[in-house]
Amino acid sequence: MIPILDLKRQIAPIRAEIDAAIKKVIDNANFVFGQEIREFEEELVKYSGAKYAVGVSNGTDAIKLSLVALGIKPGDGVLCPAFTYYASAGAIASMGAVPVFVDIEPDSYTISLEGMEKALKKKNKLKIKAIVPVHLYGQCADIDGILKIAKKHKLKVVEDTAQAFGADYKGKKAGTFGDCGALSLFPGKNLGAFGDAGAILTNSQTIAEHLKIFRNQGNKEKYYHLVIGYNNRLDTLQAAILKVKLKYLDGWNKRRQENAEYFNQQLKGLPLNTPFVPEYTTHIYHQYILRLNGASLKLIEHLRAKGIDSRVYYPVPLHLQKCFKALGYKKGDFPESERACKETLAIPVYPDLTREEKDHIVSSIKGYFNA
Ligand SMILES: Cc1ncc(COP(=O)(O)O)c(C=O)c1O
Repeated sequence: MIPILDLKRQIAPIRAEIDAAIKKVIDNANFVFGQEIREFEEELVKYSGAKYAVGVSNGTDAIKLSLVALGIKPGDGVLCPAFTYYASAGAIASMGAVPVFVDIEPDSYTISLEGMEKALKKKNKLKIKAIVPVHLYGQCADIDGILKIAKKHKLKVVEDTAQAFGADYKGKKAGTFGDCGALSLFPGKNLGAFGDAGAILTNSQTIAEHLKIFRNQGNKEKYYHLVIGYNNRLDTLQAAILKVKLKYLDGWNKRRQENAEYFNQQLKGLPLNTPFVPEYTTHIYHQYILRLNGASLKLIEHLRAKGIDSRVYYPVPLHLQKCFKALGYKKGDFPESERACKETLAIPVYPDLTREEKDHIVSSIKGYFNA
């Protein structure tokens, strides 16, 4: 079986380096706030160009902590695309704010600017205070457009960069444009830990300081609690592993891009769309998404029979999820999000795919359409 992601192949060539980093953490026995946290944060700053980086427990908490540190309060409205992973909106709801869903652009699958203006014009009891745009699948949303709307309506911006860390928008790294950029470092992400992990990028010293207080039980000095905070720290062990892996991120992303380009060329002429990449962004292909006319589910079965794993990310848009029922949305509210759920399929694109595997994926997809 060609899996959707094979982490064993990614880890094998750097295993000795990672083992040494883990051993050092065990030898020092400084498992919470060990020196590797600061070192990893410094590397994140160097890599991303953001002024500050704050390691946290996972990507969901990265979004939640960002909103809290930016002063978003329970009951405030936060714009968020209806087509993304649950956590983009779950993080908003978990701190008591209210996700205000917005449709997506059909080609890039990222938040629609027109949709945001529409949501902001709606007569609503909610005070909309922030936007969580999502750089879905590995490419950036229209950041300039988003920042313009944010400025006009005085909204905070938390870029959900869970899937796009390493992608560039007009030559600068995703996650460094908004008030905060939230990273997920979940094992399956392009830069992944050996368990849950996350980080927040920001250019504001004040916000970075607030984030550090909120991630650590609301204290700056032990046992003196300034605000109601959380236990949302990044583990020293994960920071040590991530520090090793960060050096390889650009190389891995480049191989993902080469795999994607190979698929783009080889799948030309078939009744499907390969990913559309707007000129303002690079794409690091956290997922390589095919757009099919109602054929997703049948193609999944065909590929499975050929020994290839493929996935629908995401089968149900957020406005139709049971957990958000109380928000009062209905089918038909966000047609592009609903259509994307039915028409998209992710195929393996991870860096370690061999030429034989890529050719098998291509010939299996061609076989499906030629049958
Ligand atoms: C778009 C998006 N946002 C947020 C998250 C949440 O990250 P985590 O799983 O690290 O909490 C993820 C990853 O799962 C994601 O893909």
